Amino acid sequence: MRVMERTFREQLFFLLLCLSVLKGDSRYIENNDISKDELFSILSSDLRREIPELLMYRRPLRCLDMVAVEGQFTFTAETPQLSCAAFFMAEPYELITVEFDSVDIDCSGGDFITMFDGWVMKGEKFPSSQDHPLPLYERYVNYCDSGAARKSVRSSQNVAMIFFRIHGAGSSFALTVRKHVNPFPCNVISQSPEGSYTMVTPQQHRNCSFSIIYPVAIDISEFSLGHHSNFPKRSVPGCAESGDYVQLLGGSGIDTSKLLPITDLCISFTGPTHMKIGCDNTVVRMVSSGRFVSRVSFSYRLLDSQELQTIKLNNVEDFCFNN
Ligand SMILES: *[C@@H]1O[C@H](CO)[C@@H](O)[C@H](O)[C@H]1NC(C)=O
Repeated sequence: MRVMERTFREQLFFLLLCLSVLKGDSRYIENNDISKDELFSILSSDLRREIPELLMYRRPLRCLDMVAVEGQFTFTAETPQLSCAAFFMAEPYELITVEFDSVDIDCSGGDFITMFDGWVMKGEKFPSSQDHPLPLYERYVNYCDSGAARKSVRSSQNVAMIFFRIHGAGSSFALTVRKHVNPFPCNVISQSPEGSYTMVTPQQHRNCSFSIIYPVAIDISEFSLGHHSNFPKRSVPGCAESGDYVQLLGGSGIDTSKLLPITDLCISFTGPTHMKIGCDNTVVRMVSSGRFVSRVSFSYRLLDSQELQTIKLNNVEDFCFNN
C-alpha cells in the first residue's frame, strides 16, 4: 500500500500539514459565514441535524486526506484508486459519525469503503487493541456488507478513518462527517501540539490514553489517584500495586502498547512533573483498577528545534533518538 510505505514521521508531517490547512479553512468559514452562526445559535441541536444539506460545508475528498471539520465530502475516481485513506479528527471531548450519502461503487467487483474505529498508521492502531472497548473485527465496518449502507457509523473516540478502493473511473461516493459530544472521553489523539487536558477515569476497569503525536514539553500540574489505603509507601518500587496510576510513554508509533515507559506516577510519586520528551509520540496513560475515580491534569507544548537538539546531545540514552 502506497500510504504505508511512507515513514511514520513523513506521514505525520503530511497529516499535520493537511490538518493545519483544514483548520485554516474552518476559521475562514467561521469568520465569513455569519448568517450560519446566527441561525445555529437560535436552533436546538436536534433541529440543527435536520437542516437541509444547504448550509453544510462541502469539499472533494482526496485519496489521502485529513478531515477535521464537519461537512460533506465527495470522492470521484478519475482513474482506478486502489489504496486510499481519509483520517478524521475531532476535539478531545468529541466523537465522530460518518454517514454514507450516495455511494456508486462496484462492491461485487472488489471496490470497498471501510470505516475503522480509530486510526491505523504503518500497521499500528490507535487505540491499541488492549485499550479499545470493542474487539478488533467490530472496529471495521465495510459499506459493502449488508446493513452498513445508509447507516451512520459512530467512532468510540475523537479519531476515526476510512479506507477505500475504487476500480472504475467515474465511480464515486459522498459521506457526511459530524461531531458529537463524548461525555466520557477515554482514548484521545491531540489535534494540536499544545494544549491542556484533564483525564478522568470514572470507576471503570479500563485504561485510557491521551496521545500527543509531537515531541513536547509536558507539565503534570495535578493528579488525584485512587489508591489502596494499605499501600506500603516505601517498600514497593514502581506503581503497579498502589491502585490507579499514570504512565508516561514515548516512541515512534501510534500503538500505545508498543511504546516504552518513560516514567510512572502514583500516589508516592515525588519526581519532576515537568519533562521534555523528544519522541514522535508522547502518551499520558491512566491505568485504572476500576475501583476509584482518578484524575490527572497536564499541559503540553511543542519542543523547538534547539530543545530537540539539546535532548539529542545530552541524553544519549533517550530511546527516541536511538532508532
Ligand atoms: C490496564 O493496563 C495494565 C498495565 O498495562 C494491565 O495490566 C491491565 O490488564 C489493563 N487493564 C485493562 C482493563 O485492560
